[in-house]
Amino acid sequence: MSDGTDKLPAREQAVSGKLTDPPPADGATTPPQAEAPAAVLIDDTAGVEAVDRTAHLAGAEGALLRADEVVAGYVPGVNILNRTDLYVRESELVGIIGPNGAGKSTLVKAIFGLVRIRSGRVTLRGEDITNLPTHRLVARGIGYVPQINNVFPRLTVEENLQMGTFLRPKTFRQRMDFVAAIFPVLAARRRQRAGSLSGGERQMVAMGRALMMEPSVLLLDEPSAGLSPVLQDEVFFQAKQVNAAGVTVVMVEQNARRCLQISQRAYVLDQGRNAYTGTGADLIEDPKVIELYLGTLAKAA
Ligand SMILES: Nc1ncnc2c1ncn2[C@@H]1O[C@H](COP(=O)(O)OP(=O)(O)OP(=O)(O)O)[C@@H](O)[C@H]1O
Ligand SMILES: [Mg+2]
Repeated sequence: MSDGTDKLPAREQAVSGKLTDPPPADGATTPPQAEAPAAVLIDDTAGVEAVDRTAHLAGAEGALLRADEVVAGYVPGVNILNRTDLYVRESELVGIIGPNGAGKSTLVKAIFGLVRIRSGRVTLRGEDITNLPTHRLVARGIGYVPQINNVFPRLTVEENLQMGTFLRPKTFRQRMDFVAAIFPVLAARRRQRAGSLSGGERQMVAMGRALMMEPSVLLLDEPSAGLSPVLQDEVFFQAKQVNAAGVTVVMVEQNARRCLQISQRAYVLDQGRNAYTGTGADLIEDPKVIELYLGTLAKAA
C-alpha cells in the first residue's frame, strides 16, 4: 500500500529518499537504491519547464569540449546537476556564474572526473570522456584549478610547477618558460615556498601548475575567491592572458559582473540547470540577469 509519497513530484520523492525512479504503472514501489547506475536516470525534472536546447545543440557542434544533459550529485537520489549543458569552442573564454550552491563547482568537477556523472555525456574533440579517471583526463588535455587548497604550501614555487609535469617531466624547461612568460613573478620567486606567497601569487602558482601540462582547456573554479579587489582584478587579467596565449578557458566565478566582462560567452546556472546563456556582453545587459544575478553589483556599478 502506498504512503502517498509516490504521488509527489519526482524531485520531492528523490529528496525524501523514497524513490529513485518513477513508480511503475501497477503502483508497486521500488526499494531505494544505494546509487543509481547511469542507465537508471533519476527523473527529477518532472513539473519543471524544459530548457530549450536548440542553441546549445547548434553551438556545440564541433566544439572542443561539450557536456550534454549532465546529471550528477553527491548523495544517492539527489541530483545537483539536472541535465546541464555546456560547450566551449577552441580558444574561447567561457564563464559560469550563478548563485551559491547552483552547482558551478560540481559541473567543473564532474567534467574533471571528480564527481560521478549519473547520466549525460562529456566529450573532448568529439571523443567520449565521461567519467574517465582524472589522470587520464589530464593526459588528454584537461587542466583544472580547484576553488580551494590549490597549491602545495610547503613546496617551493618551482616544485609546485614540477608537480604539474609529473606525467611528462622532460617538458619542464619548455613549459616553465611558457608559464614564466605569462606570470614572470613565478620565475622570480621560484625558490620561495608557495605557502609564503600572497593570495594572488598563489592563484598564479595554481594556474601555472595546471598550465605545465599544456592543457587544451583549463577549468578554473573561482580564481578570484578570497582575494582583495585589486588582486581580483589581477586574476581576471591573468585569466585573459592565459586565454590570449592560446589556452581555452572555462571560468567559474562568484564575481559575476567581472566574469561576464571578460567572457566571450557565459552560462548562468541556477539549481543545476541552464538558466541563461549568451555572450558576456549580452548577459551583462540583460535586465533579467541583472535583476536576478547581478543585482547588488549592478546597483553598485
Ligand atoms: N562533497 C559534497 N557532498 C554533498 N553535497 C555537496 C558536496 N559538495 C557540494 N555539495 C552540494 O551541492 C550543491 C552545489 O554545490 P557547488 O559547490 O557545486 O555550488 P557552487 O555553485 O559552486 O556554489 P559556490 O558559489 O558557493 O561555490 C550545494 O547544495 C552543496 O551543498
Ligand atoms: Mg563553487
